[in-house]
Amino acid sequence: MLDIRHPPRLPLVAPSILSADFARMGEECRGVIEAGADLLHLDVMDGHFVPNLTMGPRLCEDLRRAMPETFLDVHLMVTDPGAYIGPFRDAGANLLSFHVEVAGGEEGETMCERIRAAGMSPAVAINPGTPAEALEGVLGHVDMVLVMSVVPGFSGQRFKDEVLDTTRWARERLRDDQRLEMDGGVCPDNAARVREAGCDVLVAASAIFGRPPAQRGDVIGRLRGG
Ligand code: DX5
Ligand code: ZN
Repeated sequence: MLDIRHPPRLPLVAPSILSADFARMGEECRGVIEAGADLLHLDVMDGHFVPNLTMGPRLCEDLRRAMPETFLDVHLMVTDPGAYIGPFRDAGANLLSFHVEVAGGEEGETMCERIRAAGMSPAVAINPGTPAEALEGVLGHVDMVLVMSVVPGFSGQRFKDEVLDTTRWARERLRDDQRLEMDGGVCPDNAARVREAGCDVLVAASAIFGRPPAQRGDVIGRLRGG
């Protein structure tokens, strides 16, 4: 299993399965891991924090059983992340990201403690438009910061360049054993800028699953860079 704090290589490429073919999920997931991806990113939406419904613990559980060695990075775009710690622990998730917009400051710190006590890595996500300073107080307690480069809800949106400032702000404050993940509109054309701003985990849904399976290895390689 991947050690997110001390990975064997960086950057990591994390396909978001939101753009996979849901009717062929197992095949899609195995395919991108065989094509060189490092982990899988699961986008959980509750129809309240964001205007979409996607997947829950049951899918995570089935992926864990089908792919026991694959690191599962669960991005909670939900209003009440605390309610999902137990279900995703039981479903075999490795990392849980909650949003700073619903749990910042002391509440964020407590959320991190609860996620870690459940045997998972805590991560905090921040939306475009939320000031980077909202991360203060939580930053020291996470294994990863997730910078959203689109307004969350749907895959296939355009990358927002302005979040690179938040990215650099976070990078300056993170330790070597803390990851910095970019999520939203990431593609081979902007991957170099994303990496230069300090990101070491690149999420991509449409850029990977929008291509035919035979081309996905090439896209993953270009996201990772030379
Ligand atoms: C956005 C999700 C992302 C999204 C990325 O709401 O958190 O993970 O699926 O999709 P792309 O890479 O297509 O922008
Ligand atoms: Zn995501």
